[in-house]
Amino acid sequence: MDRAEHQVALHPTIFVIFGITGDLAARKLLPALLSLYSKKLLPKRFSVVGFSRRPFNREEFRDFLRSRLNIRFGQYKEEDIKHFLDHIVYVQGFFDQSDSFRLLSSKLAEIDKLWGQCSNKLFHLSVPPNLYEGILHKIHDSKLALPCSDETGWTRILIEKPFGNDTKTAQSLDALLAKLFKEKQIFRIDHYLAKESLQNILAFRFANSMYEPIWNYRFIDRVHIKLFEADGMNNRGRFYDSIGAIRDVGQNHMLMMLALIAMEKPASFSSNDIRSARAHVLKKLKSISPKSLVKQVVRGQYNGYISEEGVKPNSKTETYVRLETELSISRWKGVPFYLETGKSMSETKTEIDVYFKNTEDKKSEHDPAKQNILTFRVQPDEGIKVRFFVKTPGIGLHTEAKTLKFKYSDVASFAVIPDDYERLINDVFVGDQTLFASTDEIMASWKFITPILENWSKLPLKKYNKGAIEVE
Ligand code: BG6
Repeated sequence: MDRAEHQVALHPTIFVIFGITGDLAARKLLPALLSLYSKKLLPKRFSVVGFSRRPFNREEFRDFLRSRLNIRFGQYKEEDIKHFLDHIVYVQGFFDQSDSFRLLSSKLAEIDKLWGQCSNKLFHLSVPPNLYEGILHKIHDSKLALPCSDETGWTRILIEKPFGNDTKTAQSLDALLAKLFKEKQIFRIDHYLAKESLQNILAFRFANSMYEPIWNYRFIDRVHIKLFEADGMNNRGRFYDSIGAIRDVGQNHMLMMLALIAMEKPASFSSNDIRSARAHVLKKLKSISPKSLVKQVVRGQYNGYISEEGVKPNSKTETYVRLETELSISRWKGVPFYLETGKSMSETKTEIDVYFKNTEDKKSEHDPAKQNILTFRVQPDEGIKVRFFVKTPGIGLHTEAKTLKFKYSDVASFAVIPDDYERLINDVFVGDQTLFASTDEIMASWKFITPILENWSKLPLKKYNKGAIEVE
């Protein structure tokens, strides 16, 4: 099941970051770019153009970046950091002002002139989602989306989640994007898709012949997908309060994990085939009717959430969700999929448990103590484990549970797990959309989530103490 070999981007490229002074650029984008740079995986001619409101001169900007870069000292050679920073220029501007976009446009033309070439342009919206539409209109009006030449130099756009707030807003964002760019130029980020341990789900399922014959309702009892975080708001209260857990990770990361577990083997391992196999699963999610909501969905909020900075004092935003759904796919007839996520949980862990039916005794089918479980541990302690039963040594015939484990950290060649954003940036440079969400996937996931949200306030909001929700 090999896919294309790792490719390296060669053509000169300018990476424009709208909102370079923000948290995402410091935490994810710039460290990933620095790492790619130090591994010589960026084109020889590349430039990062940071666009933001704050006034900085060149030196102040460099100092600012250095102080914010989320890297361990000693992780990179000082020389690499210095040279990397030489590739970053700053344009001060306002997201709603045409003059600022003209200034940006002339900066890009200036770099191309210096290089004597029409370069690729990549735009990343590292800003709150409510600014997306305004920036996209300005990109359109200033003709930044148009490549500078027909032969060389593409333009591409990277969009972060949340992609819209519901079906309607996602459709309108999509329509706007489609006016400016063709589908092959649009890269919608769901950074979970780039996690090594999630890509391993497909490798594990399709490279081992022993699982495919039992990967269906006759053998699988249920699937439980968990994304638990011990942390609370970490200074993101204002943003989080406007979306809540189901939009923050439910509509995207959780459903993508479900798609990888449930999808059919794609016709090929090309980007199109993998994305449409994932989309097919999401389109088959059985919608939860208002009547079944109370039975199938639990929402919660941790005590103390409303005192977090930026959170409204009377907020009803959920920080915990557990929902049960099924798929209208014959392979998965009647198999419940549980999605569970929360902040301020007792532990940070993301994992997927696939419970197998107990063949020995039909009556105890649902006794978890008797079931084989295949666990994909997404993070931390990435790996895979299988619970199976062996005979307890002795005269009688009793069995007990044991575990077969594969841990990335135990295997030297697996110990260095590539960073999600490094992987994503590399893929957008080389034009591989496999690990990015397609329109179909986004629309199908909103189609499932939006009706739940329409009746959201009718569900009781259960309170829980920080760290009190037990992790099995
Ligand atoms: C983000 C959410 O998309 O994913 C955050 O907005 C969440 O709330 C994060 O903490 C989890 O990502 P990771 O890679 O740390 O598991």
